[in-house]
Amino acid sequence: MSTLAALNVVDEIVALKRERNAVILAHHYQDTEIQEIADAIGDSLELAKKARDLECEVIAFCGVVFMAETAKILNPSRIVIVPDADAGCSLVDSCPVEMVRAFKRRYPDHVVVSYINTSADVKAESDIICTSRNAVQIVNSIPAEQPILFLPDINLGNYVKRESGRTNMRIWQGACIVHTTFTERRLLEAMAAEPDAFVVAHPECPVAVLKHAGFIGSTSALIDYCVKSPHKSFIVMTESGVRHSLRKLAPEKSFTFVANENCNCSECPYMKRNSLEKLRDSLATLSPRVELAVETMDKARHSIERMLAVKY
Ligand code: 13P
Ligand code: SF4
Repeated sequence: MSTLAALNVVDEIVALKRERNAVILAHHYQDTEIQEIADAIGDSLELAKKARDLECEVIAFCGVVFMAETAKILNPSRIVIVPDADAGCSLVDSCPVEMVRAFKRRYPDHVVVSYINTSADVKAESDIICTSRNAVQIVNSIPAEQPILFLPDINLGNYVKRESGRTNMRIWQGACIVHTTFTERRLLEAMAAEPDAFVVAHPECPVAVLKHAGFIGSTSALIDYCVKSPHKSFIVMTESGVRHSLRKLAPEKSFTFVANENCNCSECPYMKRNSLEKLRDSLATLSPRVELAVETMDKARHSIERMLAVKY
């Protein structure tokens, strides 16, 4: 898009936002121009909390659909729109609700801890939700003798298992197509090219990558760490959309993103489905809209609120 065209679209979005009494929420993995126009940027936990506390008629959620569903569950009376209804997530796809129900029938004694990267139906079947920011604390909040099913991310699950020392934890076999395809080989090449750089990583990365990281955390935790750390250069093992906030908040530091072995990039193809034009159109038509059954929302809200109530 030319700069002039982008400016026109931005003007249209600003006018529509006012007309609709809308708030725009954006995840850190969104394109720069979407982050620039958003009222709030955050990781999945921050955006869920923000969505809970908003005063507006419409929430325009620029992220992936499970995040917009979380906003709807926490705001059932508000209109929640997404720029692209096909902005999915490989973790959501890995975990169909029928399989979760079948597991529960077979192992009724297990507490189901679900990563927020799940469908509303799966959240409704879960006992408690977690995000990459609080997963260890959520698991630690469950009595030690209680067996757990952690779903759906195998890498986050294994990380939580190592950090919490839990042995009675079954882990689903889903993965994020972006983080799971970061390889140790490419990370070692980047470390050799920049021997002074400090490695930070998202816990959705495989253990072979995580073992080299000096800090592991959620998207916003990684950003905070890099900004406050005395180190001057970083190798950042996550989606490259976080570069925008890192550059803004720490312009004097250097950040290297390592390409994965899948697309040879470090971008989430689902997150990148959104665009300024689609955001404008969704504000104009108030669609695509997140619509969920009341019963599903009520059950899912219960498990999200249990997460939000855990103090750490
Ligand atoms: P965050 O919880 O860090 O926002 O992660 C969400 C996500 O989809 C990571 O790939
Ligand atoms: Fe899902 Fe991975 Fe994309 Fe996050 S980066 S939305 S986990 S596919």
